[in-house]
Amino acid sequence: MSMFRVIVLRLQPLWCLLCFLSATSASAQSPQLGQPMTAAEVAAIDFTVLPSGNGLPEGGGNAQQGEGLYRVQCQACHGEQGVGGINDRLAGGHGTLTGPKPVKTIGSYWPQATTVFDFIRRAMPYSAPGTLSNDEVYALTAYLLHINGVIEASTVMNQSSLPAVVMPNRDRFIWAVQANGDEY
Ligand code: HEC
Repeated sequence: MSMFRVIVLRLQPLWCLLCFLSATSASAQSPQLGQPMTAAEVAAIDFTVLPSGNGLPEGGGNAQQGEGLYRVQCQACHGEQGVGGINDRLAGGHGTLTGPKPVKTIGSYWPQATTVFDFIRRAMPYSAPGTLSNDEVYALTAYLLHINGVIEASTVMNQSSLPAVVMPNRDRFIWAVQANGDEY
């Protein structure tokens, strides 16, 4: 055993005591690092939309408006009409989930239309998330629902109509937590 390791071993009890003391004092008094976030800073990242639609912003759009946006902002990765792109397929696959080759898409798999809005606003377009307006996200959500045969091209998606959309696979999900009013 090298001299260095002997010293370290000898010092270990003292070291543990120091750790213990610093841990207990830390819980009594915070390290006073950082600073409280402003209301504007919180608002900029506090935009979760729950399955119930709780958290959806104002605005709206339909698939006719979303189609052009999709071609410019999304098609390069997701393919024409959501199929055949280099990234996730976004349409079709209906009825395949119980077969040997399940094709999971928004239309065949996702239980809530509100999640489509939340996901697009939070994460897409992949290289520039957060750059779309709420109206654009509503229009793109409507477009993806439309190419999945869930809504008509002219149906406007907004705060009240989007949560009312019933997704084809919704009833095949078993909720781990009991939905309770507007909580989820
Ligand atoms: C640069 C390529 C790229 C672009 C452009 C892009 N996406 Fe995506 N998209 C991805 C990738 C990669 C994933 C998978 C991300 C993951 O699994 O975390 C994805 C996943 C998704 C999903 C989830 C699919 C699923 O079933 O899980 C949706 C919905 C989606 N994108 C919508 C859009 C929309 C709408 C646009 C246009 C505003 C867009 N994407 C633009 C690359 C892209």
